[in-house]
Amino acid sequence: MKQEKDFKNYLSRVAKQMILIHDANLLSKLIIRTVTRSLSVKHAGLFLYNKTNQEYIIEVSRGKKGLKIPVGFTKIRNTNPIINFFLNQNLSINNREYLLLSQIKKIKEENKFNKEFIELLIDLENELSLYRAELIVPGFFRKDLMVVFFIGGKIENQDFTDDDIEFLTVLASDVVMAIQNAKLFEDIKQQLDVNKQLLLNTVETLATAIDIKNAYTHGHAERVMKYSMALVKYIPHNLIADLKVFEDSLKISALLHDIGKIGIPEDILNKPTRLSDDEIDLVRKHPAMGAEILEPISEFQVATLGVKFHHEKYDGSGYPYGLVGEDIPLIATIISVADAYDAMLGDRPYRKGIDKDKVIREIELNKNKQFNPAVVDAFLEAVSKNEI
Ligand SMILES: [Fe+2]
Repeated sequence: MKQEKDFKNYLSRVAKQMILIHDANLLSKLIIRTVTRSLSVKHAGLFLYNKTNQEYIIEVSRGKKGLKIPVGFTKIRNTNPIINFFLNQNLSINNREYLLLSQIKKIKEENKFNKEFIELLIDLENELSLYRAELIVPGFFRKDLMVVFFIGGKIENQDFTDDDIEFLTVLASDVVMAIQNAKLFEDIKQQLDVNKQLLLNTVETLATAIDIKNAYTHGHAERVMKYSMALVKYIPHNLIADLKVFEDSLKISALLHDIGKIGIPEDILNKPTRLSDDEIDLVRKHPAMGAEILEPISEFQVATLGVKFHHEKYDGSGYPYGLVGEDIPLIATIISVADAYDAMLGDRPYRKGIDKDKVIREIELNKNKQFNPAVVDAFLEAVSKNEI
């Protein structure tokens, strides 16, 4: 009774471990170790089904008593006699729930069957001897044969018991479950990647639509994004909780930082002369208007902060909120430097673009004034590494 309970506990522990493993190779190794240890067999191995390539990958135990796979036998197909036995409805021994070498030998010796059947048995026997297997147990998912265990003899040479076979049958169904789980995990991950790419394409299209409104700044959003992404690599890591998430938001935020300009007439944006006070007021509303556009999208929460505060200045003299120092979200301070850098480099209706060295000096001079000092340091480092 106690032994039976241990066996079930052991299986449930292994199943829990398996469900966390999403790599087929690692999963195979864990299972083989489980089988060899728990059944005290000389060696164990398995065929694991790869549905995409419609083939089975073979994994065997290593070590002193381990089996070496013959060269060229790392993959097999449906035509393999063992696979064929479990998939072929016309052949039945033990309801095709398992195969024992000793039984195959016995049936062959009884010689009650037709020549064709005996030939199939001989093929099976040869195949089993190739893997030095004495017991084979399959695991199915619906009609797909997902896994086949092949087990060598016991170290003490005892026969396999019904409990051993049941243990392997339950383990096989756990393996099938783990494989299905891993596949699902992979599918979801791929779907997320597709969605992310789709979102980024949409954001890029939107950024281009904003750029086109402004005759003097073509490609500005794309460049601000590139400078921001180069710069963020040199921001001290203790300032960012999750770099991957932050970078994703920064990319979107930098591309959309001027999305609020969508509500400002083109003749004001492209005016070659000085703007009137009313016009200046209107232009200065674009960070807040941009934030208003993005706020309903909960996935853009951090990105929205970059849009909303990219014209704030470290010394508090920025607009529209006049935030000071560390109150300005980091994402906005990065876009602020990247934005100013690109704006100074480019031609404007009222002036020519400024020389790159001069622009860099100007940014350095504005450390602690217009810009967050940590961001200016990161900018200078990215410049020195030729990444900006
Ligand atoms: Fe702006």
